[in-house]
Amino acid sequence: MKRLSILDLQAKKRQGQKLSLVTCYDASFGRLVDLSPIDAILIGDSLGMVIKGEEHTLSVTLDEIIYHCRAVARSTQRVHLIGDMPFGSYQASIDKAVENAIRLVKEGGVQAIKLEGGVMYAELISRLTKIGIPVMGHLGLTPQSYHQFGGYKLQGKSKEAADQIIADAVALEQAGAYAIVLEGIPQSVAKQCTEAIQIPTIGIGAGPYCSGQILVLYDLLGLDERFNPKFLKKYEDFSAKTLAALQNYSTEVQDSIFPEIKA
Ligand code: KIV
Repeated sequence: MKRLSILDLQAKKRQGQKLSLVTCYDASFGRLVDLSPIDAILIGDSLGMVIKGEEHTLSVTLDEIIYHCRAVARSTQRVHLIGDMPFGSYQASIDKAVENAIRLVKEGGVQAIKLEGGVMYAELISRLTKIGIPVMGHLGLTPQSYHQFGGYKLQGKSKEAADQIIADAVALEQAGAYAIVLEGIPQSVAKQCTEAIQIPTIGIGAGPYCSGQILVLYDLLGLDERFNPKFLKKYEDFSAKTLAALQNYSTEVQDSIFPEIKA
């Protein structure tokens, strides 16, 4: 089966269809996402929080991302795969960033990479696309700027900040990016970005005026009852369901109901 490519995603946008993306980090969920109509999986550095239990994404390493990319790649055939460049893997120099992006594609088995930041990464994006590595950009509340932003805070609120995000979106498209994640910005700014460029915009906490949406898989499945940001819609309540199943299992073991005694 042929995987969805960057051309398939862009064609879908041109045809006026919305794109749906999720994050995913392992083979079991990867298999299920592949069976669903979801267009693409981001093996995101959000694994720092949902897999490693950290407060932010900053400790995630390239080797960790590659490990999770391989697990997802092995269990999927159809869905488009994007590997996230973690903090420290592309900021030091263009040459080091290119080396690391090549590793992510070769060893991780993904078709594209994602990196955070605006016009200052235009040259890097241009280099990567010229050597055949598709790049997804990421603007707004870029989680790797956690310390610079003083936490996870809505970005692009002032006119100046909004104009910068729109200018960055145009610069990323011109540099060759095939899509851009817009995270944690006012919906009016996301709308202006979407109208200013031809490539798909993928929103998270950026309102409805994007070409598609992305959510962290564990968040949309409701796996953490403590995590309830305003933008999140939980499509299931698996923290309650998992706790109930574990309670049930434990009780049945205590009461010698499971395993059944067979004659
Ligand atoms: O790492 C991640 O999961 C992300 C998405 C939330 C866009 O960057």
